[in-house]
Amino acid sequence: MAVIPVNIAGRPYEVRVGAGLLAELVPHCRGKLRKRDVPIVTDANVHAAWGDVVEASLRDNGHEPHWRILPPGEHTKSWDELAATVNWLLSLEVERGDHIIALGGGVIGDLTGFCAAVLKRGCKFIQVPTTLLSQVDSSVGGKTAINTPAGKNLVGAFHQPSLVLADLSALETLPTRELLAGYAEVVKYGLINDADFFAWCDTNGAKMVAGDSALREYAVAHSVAAKARIVAEDEFETTGRRALLNLGHTFGHALEAETGFSNRLLHGEAVALGMVLAARYSARKGLMPMASADHVAQHIGEVGLPASLSALGLDCNGAALVKHMLHDKKMDAGTLPFLLMKGIGKTYLDKQVSLEDVADFLDGELARTPA
Ligand code: GLY
Repeated sequence: MAVIPVNIAGRPYEVRVGAGLLAELVPHCRGKLRKRDVPIVTDANVHAAWGDVVEASLRDNGHEPHWRILPPGEHTKSWDELAATVNWLLSLEVERGDHIIALGGGVIGDLTGFCAAVLKRGCKFIQVPTTLLSQVDSSVGGKTAINTPAGKNLVGAFHQPSLVLADLSALETLPTRELLAGYAEVVKYGLINDADFFAWCDTNGAKMVAGDSALREYAVAHSVAAKARIVAEDEFETTGRRALLNLGHTFGHALEAETGFSNRLLHGEAVALGMVLAARYSARKGLMPMASADHVAQHIGEVGLPASLSALGLDCNGAALVKHMLHDKKMDAGTLPFLLMKGIGKTYLDKQVSLEDVADFLDGELARTPA
């Protein structure tokens, strides 16, 4: 097992990464589950796969689990589920010092974390992420949110968990497409500021996705450590440091919006293609060689993630995609900062990007025949 500290000032916590953590949930939570009753929020798929294992650990250690089993999918991150889950927690008489367990992917972690942030002005929670994407990104760093009709994650709070337990065994029941979508966020850490890790991904990514457990532990622990470092430096995304974690997300968000946030393009798939577009746009601006952008696209395509915009078959132009970007949370006084690359592992925040130029670039990408 790897243990990664997240050194947030005043509220440090650990991320534990390893196989079999769910079966040992209670020992890993030592000192945190102070009452017999333990509230657990999850979704129906995760409950079907892992509910018995978690239930057994709690009961064997003298706890009474209280399950809230929600429908899988983004629509669960809603005002209605927030209200209903907070009311359910109140009915269980959860106190500020009690811990709520979030067992699931990003949807469950974001919703439960937001419930914990607002319940009695803030109570404690433990993230138990069961998808690769939530293990390497959303469970770490304290971003919590729900979606509203105006967009995804527009209402939320920064609220750090007390512990994150990333059980690699949970990845074994994850559909390959979901695993790959999470892998996009792994590659992201290499592209942001760690060219050696991108090279590691190039060599080992396919084997890791295929199931090699030692490679999975290394990839998850390395990604979590990279995220922990950035979050500890800029918890509230005020200095621009944490914004680096959004590499590929502005282009990706436009693609998700254009495809209706549907199963046609998962978030991680949109981020993968978004990173290719960020690399290709950076090369077009002369910031890095086109050969480096091609290298990024080649790796992303080879593992099985989308790497070509034209191959998506969208019926829109570049201006329509840019219009989606204008709803981005990062909009700042009419300008949209972009994460661009001066090379692999050299991502920076550029506040001078012309949206007309981006639209023109996207027109070219929409028409380009994949290599
Ligand atoms: N997923 C980006 C962040 O946590 O800041």
